[in-house]
Amino acid sequence: MKSVNTIFCADILDFIDDPAVAGDKAHRYFKQGALVVENGRVAKLGYEKDIMAELSSQDTLAQYHVRRYDNQIIMPGMIDTHIHLPQIEMIGAYGEQLLTWLTEYAFPTEEKFSDEEYASGISNIFLDELLKNGTTTALVFCTVHPQSVNAFFTAAQQRHLRMIAGKVMMDTNCPDELSDTPSSSYQDSKLLIEKWHNTDRLHYAVTPRFAPTSSPEQLVQCQKLLEEYPDVYLHTHLAENHNECEWVKSLYPEATDYLGVYENSGLVRKRSVFAHGIHLSERELDCLAHHQGAISHCPTSNLFLGSGLFNLKACEQHKVNVGMGTDVGAGTSFSLLQTASEAYKIQQLRDEKFSAFKGLYLATLGGARALDLEGTIGNFNQGCEADFIVIDNNATPFLNFRLSHTKTLHEKLFTLMMLGDDRCIKETFILGQSVYQRDLPCDSNQV
Ligand code: GUN
Ligand code: ZN
Repeated sequence: MKSVNTIFCADILDFIDDPAVAGDKAHRYFKQGALVVENGRVAKLGYEKDIMAELSSQDTLAQYHVRRYDNQIIMPGMIDTHIHLPQIEMIGAYGEQLLTWLTEYAFPTEEKFSDEEYASGISNIFLDELLKNGTTTALVFCTVHPQSVNAFFTAAQQRHLRMIAGKVMMDTNCPDELSDTPSSSYQDSKLLIEKWHNTDRLHYAVTPRFAPTSSPEQLVQCQKLLEEYPDVYLHTHLAENHNECEWVKSLYPEATDYLGVYENSGLVRKRSVFAHGIHLSERELDCLAHHQGAISHCPTSNLFLGSGLFNLKACEQHKVNVGMGTDVGAGTSFSLLQTASEAYKIQQLRDEKFSAFKGLYLATLGGARALDLEGTIGNFNQGCEADFIVIDNNATPFLNFRLSHTKTLHEKLFTLMMLGDDRCIKETFILGQSVYQRDLPCDSNQV
């Protein structure tokens, strides 16, 4: 990518800590701020007048392009810590809870991904949609077919994105067409790791679907991969639905609990991300915290499938890392703004508070921490990669009207979180380069 040094002037918001830990010191907000990007990375962040004065005094201001987004908010690109590539064409499918939803809708759709050309087409639609929604990094389930991973990473690499993905491993309790074996899943994953892991901005995730679709022998192969490649990710589902939890008990009676199945195979560690984690015991929360595993909280999915109300407070108390995921296609929106809005409603039903600061933290730095990428993405600390978004306060006349009735920063951000969606994402930048502009015709945005 050609590198241009640019000063982006706007109101700028990012997070340096979890608001549940650091309160008001967790966020930084520069009204009339400036973000200086050099060679695709953050060089400086501060108030515009201070930065302009500093660069002028060094006589270097002329070396920068200046782009102004007056009265708009620049934020780090959002991070989706759990999403399914193949499920975008059946998002919003009617009437079922998890286990029937999987057999009725998810599995038949995933069979199509044996065709790499098909997987390439869907990958491009998927990435367009992420960028349009302000999501710049995601942890992605592909399908059991290695070609689905090749298609996805090829598309992500062309766009210079930081993405994490993996081939689903499943060898039992699934259709024959989607079944691998312990040894083929090991071999296929290994080849994909060798080809893609740490190539450009891409990382590999060993991806057993969930305990019910992996035999004990397959979980041993997952463990072997993690031992051979200690910095790859582990990505799976955990304790999402009551019937699923009962099923896991019957399949793995010797395990202490659901997480125990993964723990016994050495799969709970830093860079392990477990989607959902709704029905967890104190022991499981302690185990996650102890081994530094993370949970991806997926509110729109949890409500859509009727899975349950996530206990965020328990995670905070146990110091478990939490990021937010859309879980499309059980999740019903690509937008992490909408996802945070549903997270708020879940906490309302639990009689817990969920501020806009918490929601936007989870969508950015919280996600980076869950993915062990703090210092690389997730905020505007010096040296971070300049993946960021411009949020439009005037996205619709009504939003503009509603925002005109807000007084504090929190009120304004909360309104944006509750009412906002892809219409609020005016522009998305990857490594300091504009890759999506809402006001351009669709085709002009495709890389
Ligand atoms: N558990 C196992 N597979 C899936 C899936 O595809 N979606 C969700 N939401 N949960 C799962
Ligand atoms: Zn999922």
